[in-house]
Formats: sequence, structure tokens, C-alpha cells
Amino acid sequence: MIQASLVRTARDFRRACQEARQAGTLALVPTMGFLHAGHQSLIREGAKRAKTVAATVFVNPMQFGPAEDLSRYPSDLDGDLRKCAEAGASLVFAPEGPGEMYPAGYQTYIEPGALAGPLDGERRPGHFRGVCTVVAKLFALSRADCALFGEKDYQQLAVIRRMAADLDLGTEVIGRPIVREPDGLALSSRNSYLSAEERSKAVALWNALGAARAAFAAGERSGQQIVGAARAALDGLRIDYCDLRDPVELLPLEQRADPTSRLFLAAFVGKTRLIDNGALGEAG
Ligand code: PAJ
Repeated sequence: MIQASLVRTARDFRRACQEARQAGTLALVPTMGFLHAGHQSLIREGAKRAKTVAATVFVNPMQFGPAEDLSRYPSDLDGDLRKCAEAGASLVFAPEGPGEMYPAGYQTYIEPGALAGPLDGERRPGHFRGVCTVVAKLFALSRADCALFGEKDYQQLAVIRRMAADLDLGTEVIGRPIVREPDGLALSSRNSYLSAEERSKAVALWNALGAARAAFAAGERSGQQIVGAARAALDGLRIDYCDLRDPVELLPLEQRADPTSRLFLAAFVGKTRLIDNGALGEAG
């Protein structure tokens, strides 16, 4: 297994990416670290599409609200380097600290539009502004040919795809399916917060998706009824949102549900907020 080379400054990252682009194509996989098989699936796909894969590991303070989990977000850089190399990333950018991305005097931000309005945009004010700003900077530093993002964060993927198109960033944004545990729970770095008891309750998100899909498969087309079935399966968790929306504009369904209609879920298991989503017509 080749070792991934680690760079800690924006300047070194820019230089390493420039060299990689001179030698061939470059794929970018932005992450906040504490990598799991979901992140690795993005790196593996990047390695199929480009000669070099650069992964980034940066817990971006700008996308966390004041009451969120920034200070306790898990990290394991040694483990991440190993997992990056194993999946095929030969370059890893882990900024030394926030000052490497946002030096003194920093004052420029990217404000996304309507796609960032509902769901996590509504519940986490400023979140997507922080995501867009850091991702635009990573695109600018790397000038990667493509960048890979997971459908686990479906709204994030939509917002970033729109940003890249609107601002002519020149990096193709590629979405990839959600990687799940055997019982259906979507892999997430935040799953590490769960106690054993909470972990067993967390499968309710997957059960809610299953309940919505089963209602749809049985012929139900009323959004309200389908959401009702999902909410019932989330029983016992504090629901942040449970919404059926169209997969392109993320608008609430006004008409009958169809196979592409997407259920979006956010719920608290104890203090941990988990999200999930899926199309009604997808297997599951
Ligand atoms: P993070 O939560 O570390 O996720 C990094 C990437 O991995 C995102 O594209 C996310 O959708 C994807 N991912 C997470 N869990 C996944 C799973 N179970 N299956 C497939 N893909 C999965 O998302 C972020 O970091 C940040 O907001 C970031 C884009 C890096 C900007 O700071």
C-alpha cells in the first residue's frame, strides 16, 4: 500500500495539487475526518475517475453553530491517513488549524440561495454558508477536475453542485450513494457519540425510510400519509424534521408522491443529531 503524503499548509496543498494536475487528472474528496467506509467509498470512486485523489481533513468551524459539537467533533489523523491510503488517496491536506484556512483579516463568504433554505438550512443557520465557503476554497486551492460528495448529505450535495455551476468553478461535482451499516444505519462520524443503547435506537431512521417506502409501494401517494408512516417509525426519537420533497429543488411536494420523491430525516438520539434521506422508489 502506498502511503498518503500529508500537507499541512494551504500553500503546500496548492503546490502538490498543481504537480498532480501536471501529471494527470485530480479528484478531490473533502471531509471533516474520523473517516469511515462512506468516506472511503468516495475516495475509491475518485481513484477510478482520476489519476490522483486528494482527500482533505478539516473540521470547519465556520459551518458549526454556537451550540453545536465543534469542540467535541472526533478526530484521528493517523487513522485517517491509513484509511486514505488504503482507499487510494495519495495526498491528504489536513490544515494545521483554522488559521490556515481563515487567516487574520478573513472576511469573504459564499451565500447559497434557495436550495440552502429548508431542512438543515433552516435548522442550522449559517451552516451552508460555511460549507460553501470552505468547499469553494478547497476547489480554488486544488483546481481538481472532479470532487466527490455523499448523498448522505443530500442537501449539501445539491447546494455545492449549484454553487460550482453558478460560480463556474470548473470542478465537476459527483454524488455517490449512502454507505450503511448492516442494520441500515447510515455511516457517520457522529455515530461514535452513541452509547450502545442509543446505537440500537438509531436504526429507527432507517426504519422510518423503510416505512415510507413500504407505504409508497403499497400504493399510497399522499405525502401526508407517507410522512405519517415515517414519523410513526421514528417513535421515541426527538424529530427535528421529517419531510417529503422533490429531489431537484427540494420543494415540499404539492402533488402526489412519485418514486423520485425524497424523504429527509433529522432526529436526535439522546444528544446526537443524525440525518438520513432516500427516494421512495429506491430499493431498501
Ligand atoms: P463529512 O461529514 O466528513 O463528510 C465528508 C463527505 O463524506 C461528504 O460528502 C458526506 O456526504 C460523505 N459521507 C458521509 N457519510 C457517508 C455515508 N454513510 N455514505 C456515503 N458518503 C458519506 O460533509 C462534510 O464532512 C463537510 O460538510 C465538508 C463537505 C467536508 C465541508 O466541510
